[in-house]
Amino acid sequence: MNSVLVASNRGPVSFTVDDDGELTMKRGGGGLVSGLSAVTKDHNVLWVCAALSDGDRSAARQAPGGRLDHAGYDTGALRMLDIPAATFHRAYNAVANSTLWFVNHLLYDTPNAPSFGSRFRREWESYRDYNGAFALALAEEAHHEARVMVQDYHLTLTPAMLRAERPDLRVAHFSHTPWAPPEYFSLLPDEVGREVLEGILGADHAGFLTARWAEAFMDCCAALLGARVDRAARTVTHEGRTTRVGVHALGVDGGALRERAAEPDVESHMTALREQVGERALIVRIDRTELSKNIVRGLQAYREFLAGHPEWHGKVVHLAFAYPSRHDLPEYREYTATVQRCAQEIEDEYATEDWDPLILNVHDDYPRSLAAYRMADVLLVNPIRDGMNLVAKEGPILSSGAALVLSREAGAAAELGEHALLVNPYDISGTAAALHEALVMPADERRARGERLRAAATALPPQRWLTAQLDALAGH
Ligand code: G6P
Repeated sequence: MNSVLVASNRGPVSFTVDDDGELTMKRGGGGLVSGLSAVTKDHNVLWVCAALSDGDRSAARQAPGGRLDHAGYDTGALRMLDIPAATFHRAYNAVANSTLWFVNHLLYDTPNAPSFGSRFRREWESYRDYNGAFALALAEEAHHEARVMVQDYHLTLTPAMLRAERPDLRVAHFSHTPWAPPEYFSLLPDEVGREVLEGILGADHAGFLTARWAEAFMDCCAALLGARVDRAARTVTHEGRTTRVGVHALGVDGGALRERAAEPDVESHMTALREQVGERALIVRIDRTELSKNIVRGLQAYREFLAGHPEWHGKVVHLAFAYPSRHDLPEYREYTATVQRCAQEIEDEYATEDWDPLILNVHDDYPRSLAAYRMADVLLVNPIRDGMNLVAKEGPILSSGAALVLSREAGAAAELGEHALLVNPYDISGTAAALHEALVMPADERRARGERLRAAATALPPQRWLTAQLDALAGH
């Protein structure tokens, strides 16, 4: 039995099956996972996650009770849930990624989507089952009065389900995404919207990355549930229970990141990139190829910048690393194709014999991304909306004074905005102007801003983020 548990869709490891049926374990994947992995081992935490692939499912099935650590893997205490593939896909792709993610990032093209019919109701049933599987596993594994930390939009129903099973537990839910304002959140069918809110309110503590997302959540609770909200105390009271709402920004462990970025594989990528771009100024962006990251408008802004500033032709290169993500969803595949088309248009219009204005790379390569951060003169982070955005924090830690062009809709803008060049992510001309301003920023101003960005980015490393929430739960 365990006294601290973490639950998230994606776990710290994944498995692939090779031709002769052997399983190979791999680490990593996403900001949430790397943040949590850094701290769970030290705290002796049991992590509960879903099997995402066939490889994961077979590893989970072979391990006693799904406990990978009991099957001899060096994972720390980890239980992987073997959820049937069809249920998992409906919960993860159809509900979590195509619906809740879209709502909270305001991604719908509303004349055409969403439409919620009987198919969605079936998908919603699967989302319930998937949340139920987590609640059951947590109920089985948790010590009396244990603290349980449920992560993200995949698991909004788990807190209430868990409370029904185990009222002794102290439960926190944390949203790593933004939260939609009530008028947009109400796109969801009424009963679904209510179930999501009541699911999270099953927790004692509902955490968000910024005050803005916490306030939007409280607004939804008041508007859709008629819950009593005390904004000053940050509490929501509904059906006789009170949930505290907490704001916990997440930062970066600067020391660990710098150490990783000093490894020889990163150095050799730097040498290769330098050979490719010469001494030209570098505008760098690094993202998952994700609709909310606004990569297409970023490229359009670069194009407009080149059109307006011929004096920079031949002197600047835009490195855009957009590695693949969620390719089971058609919107993501189409988006990747649009990104590639935009990049081609820029090439066709501006490339010359000895100047490549844009290097787009859609393959994942962590050490190469670290190399790009270190070399950046300008870092472009322009999401439509983002819970936090750790790229905006990692970049300044590694670069020696890159100017940061940052969307005002990223959660990170709350902490970094003062030292960045803030943009409206829909305003391509505004973003183009900010890119120019960043490029011509005097070196001493760039350095001074860089130092302040670095300090803000490392103020709340994952260790402190986790401890603050555990402390908040202990007080319940
Ligand atoms: C966001 C979410 C995380 C998620 C990550 C990667 O940061 O908040 O929960 O793990 O994206 O997405 P994926 O679908 O690949 O897990």
